[in-house]
Amino acid sequence: MAAITVFETVAAMRAAVAGWHGAGETVALVPTMGALHEGHIALVAEGRRRASRVIVTIFVNPTQFAPHEDFKKYPRTFDADCAKLVAAGADAVFFPSVEEMYPAGFATRVLLLGPAAVGLEDRFRPTHFEGVATICCKLFTQSRADCAIFGEKDYQQLKVVTRMATDLDLGVAIVPLATIREADGLAMSSRNRYLSPEQRALAPLLHRVMQELAIRIRNRDDLFKAVAEAQEAIITAGFELDYLEARHAETLAPVTSLADGPIRLLIAARIGGTRLIDNIAA
Ligand code: PAF
Repeated sequence: MAAITVFETVAAMRAAVAGWHGAGETVALVPTMGALHEGHIALVAEGRRRASRVIVTIFVNPTQFAPHEDFKKYPRTFDADCAKLVAAGADAVFFPSVEEMYPAGFATRVLLLGPAAVGLEDRFRPTHFEGVATICCKLFTQSRADCAIFGEKDYQQLKVVTRMATDLDLGVAIVPLATIREADGLAMSSRNRYLSPEQRALAPLLHRVMQELAIRIRNRDDLFKAVAEAQEAIITAGFELDYLEARHAETLAPVTSLADGPIRLLIAARIGGTRLIDNIAA
C-alpha cells in the first residue's frame, strides 16, 4: 500500500502548502482527532471536490477535554487512519506532537461568545469550545488552507468555528457537510466504538426519536409538548439525557415555534459511560 506524506511540524506543512499555492493549487483542510470512520472519509471526499489538495490533520487535542473526560482512552489508530486516507485520496496528514502545538509557555486561548454560549454542549463541557476554537484557529493559520471541512454531526462546533473564522478574518472558508449515518440511523462517531453490543443496539433510538419530533414540529404540533414527550421517550429507553432541544438553526437561540425561524433539534445523551450527540433539521 502506498504511503501518505506525513508532516509532523508546522514548518513542513507550511512549506508544502506554499509550494502548492505557488503552483496555483488550492488546499482543503480536514481537521480530525483520528480514529477515522466513513464520516471522516466523506469530509475528505468533500475536500477533494473543493480543492486540488487535501490535508487531514490528526491531533487528539488535550485542551478540549475536561480532566474527567476520555482524553487518555480516546482511540489512537494512526496506521489504520493513514491506510484509509491513502484509499480516500488525501494528499497529506498533519500529525503534530502536543509539544509542536502547545510549546512550553503557551498561554493563549480564543474567547468565544455567541453560538459557543447558548447552554447546549457548553453547559456540560464548559471549557470544550475554547479548546476546539484555539486548536482550529492554530490549524487554519498554520496551514493557510483555503477551506476547511466540518461535519454537521458536531453542529454547535460547526457554528462556533464558522463564527470564529468570520470574526477573526482567518481567511479560510468553513464548509459544512451533512452527518454520515450507519444504516440504522446512528450518527457515525469515533466514540461509537465504546458501546457494548446492547448499547449499540439501543443507540439508533436517538435518531428515530429526533426524526419523529421533527415531523411533529413540521406538522405544527405544540412544540413544547412534542419536545417534552421526545425527552421522556429517550429517558424511558434508559439514556441519561443531557439535553434535547429545539433551537434556531443559525444562532442556536431557544425557539418556541416554527415562526421563530429554521429549527435545529440537538441532543446529547449518555448510555453507560458513553456520551452521544446528534442533531437534525426540523
Ligand atoms: O471534531 C473534532 O474532531 C475536533 O473537535 C476538531 C475539530 C478536530 C478539533 O480538535
